[in-house]
Parts: sequence; structure tokens; C-alpha cells
Amino acid sequence: METPFMEQHESDAALVDEVRTGLQQIPKRLSSRFFYDAEGSRIFAEIMHTPDYYLTRSEYEILDTQKADLLRLFTPDKRSFELVELGAGDGLKTKILLGFLADQQADFTYAPVDISGDALDKLVADVQQQWPDLLLNARHDDYFNALEQLSEESNARRIVLFLGSNIGNFTPDEAIDFYRQLHDRLQPGDLVLTGFDLQKHPAIIHAAYNDRMGLTRAFNLNLLRRINTELDADFNLAAFDHYETYNPESGEARSYLVSQKAQTVRINALDMAVPFDYGEIIHTEISRKFTRAQIEELARQTGFSVTGWFTDCKGYFADVVFER
Ligand code: AVJ
Repeated sequence: METPFMEQHESDAALVDEVRTGLQQIPKRLSSRFFYDAEGSRIFAEIMHTPDYYLTRSEYEILDTQKADLLRLFTPDKRSFELVELGAGDGLKTKILLGFLADQQADFTYAPVDISGDALDKLVADVQQQWPDLLLNARHDDYFNALEQLSEESNARRIVLFLGSNIGNFTPDEAIDFYRQLHDRLQPGDLVLTGFDLQKHPAIIHAAYNDRMGLTRAFNLNLLRRINTELDADFNLAAFDHYETYNPESGEARSYLVSQKAQTVRINALDMAVPFDYGEIIHTEISRKFTRAQIEELARQTGFSVTGWFTDCKGYFADVVFER
């Protein structure tokens, strides 16, 4: 399981707001932030193992094969640093790094940040068991609050990890805003390591979000199941389909739910009736793919310089180091 968003396991109030406003918009929309209830997180963990979803394997390869180079970037002078992971989830990939840093006796603190207390507790228990001596400073908080607090507590260099292509769920404006906010809260010399999924043959990307095992489909439909459970709604999951597009010009993979017939859905907790036409869609997710030029431009626009560029052997994915 991984928890890609700070809004993970958001309060009922946030889901209520999202459903009320999103299903009244034209076209209808529901944010991918709400995918990750317990069942959604479980399905996403399965997606990460499916052959079509190359992202996880590519990033795992990068971290595994280039961890020594990463450590040299993190601390050229062997000084202490703080490894802050945003949206840590179960930290599957981070554990490769943690194991290596521990072996190398690097002087660092690991500060996983997640809005999901459950995911964080699990991660902390896990990390403590595997590396009892590791310094842990977990934060159950919003990303930016956590960063502000951390910088008040210590002067160590901060290395912020934002892995797994979670950045892809942001619109271009949101991405710029995200790095500007990071810039405001970091010190000169601090680093941000982001996992970006790169543009590649469109068919490969399309297949990653339309996998043969139907996991992405189940993941997308789970959002309706969640609304049924949490908001006492009557979405008939069999009457909705999963549809994916990838536009190689914009670099956007987009997920939709499609109403397979004209129907009206009741959402009792909101006292709302939502009519659907035959073929009407709900937009649920953007997963953006980047070019190297776009990533360099993003750094430039937000005041960072690119000081590290790590890719897998296929060139599918990049873990990129921005220096403040
Ligand atoms: C966890 C946001 C990186 O967009 O690739 C996987 C989520 N959606 N399959 C992505 C996801 C459909 C994933 N992120």
C-alpha cells in the first residue's frame, strides 16, 4: 500500500464536499484523492505488482541501482541530514534507501509525513522493527505544516522525497504551486527528490492505466463503492465502466467512469439525486507524464536547480533532484 496524497483518508466532510460539488459540475468529476480508502489502497498495492504498471518497477530499479550515487548527492560531506518523505504510505521503495543508508552508517533522521495515521503507524512499526537504531520522526500532518515544524526543530540539511509519480496527479498549475511552497519552506542547499513518469510510447502508458487484469478498472470503480458505503448511495457498479485516455500531446492519462445507461443515483447522506445520461462520464484522475524539458522548466520556474537526474535502463521513469 502507498498513500500518494496528503488528503488521504480525508474526513467525511471532505468527501461530502467533493461529491456534492463534483457531481453537479459539467462534466461531472470526482478527485483521485478519494481513491485511497482501505480497499482502494489494497487495490493500488496490487496495481503496483501488475506487469502493465511499469512505474513502480522502474522507480524501484532506479533507487536500487543508484542508491550510492544518491547518497553522495544527499551528503557529499557526510554531514547529517533529514530525509523527509511526503505521502510515505508503506514506504516500500523508501525501504531500499533506508536499508542502504543504515548499512553505510549515514547520519540521518527519517521523517515520513502522511495524513493517514493508519498508514504511518504501520510504516513506523515496520521501520522500527527492521532498523531499531534508525532515528524516526514521523509526522501525521499536512505536508507543508510538517515541513515548517521540521525546519524549526533542526538545522540539518533536508532531503524531501516525493516518489512514485504522485506529482502526476497535479495539474500544471498545482505542480508549480507545490514546488513554490516547498521553496518557501526549505533552506538554500536543501534537496527535493521527485519521481516523474516520463513520456514514452503512448501504447505503453495507456496499458498501464488499462491493465489486462482489470485492476485499474476495479480501482476506479472502488470510488463509487466507497461513496455507497460512506454516503449511503446506490451506485450500481455494474452500470458503470472504466475508460482511459492517453493524449501524447498533453502528456495526460485521464481516467473516467462511464454510465452505461440513463439512470438516477441516490446519495442519501446528501439527500441528492444525480441523473446520468447514457454514456455520461465522471472524470476521476489525471496522471501526467513529463518530458525532460518540462521538468527542467518546472525547476526553473519555481527557483530550484536540477542537480541530479536518474533513470531506469529503459528510460521510462526519472528520479530527479532539485536543489533549493
Ligand atoms: C499513485 C498517483 C502515482 O497516477 O499512476 C494507478 C495512481 N491510478 N493507476 C498514478 C494510479 C491508476 C498512480 N499514482
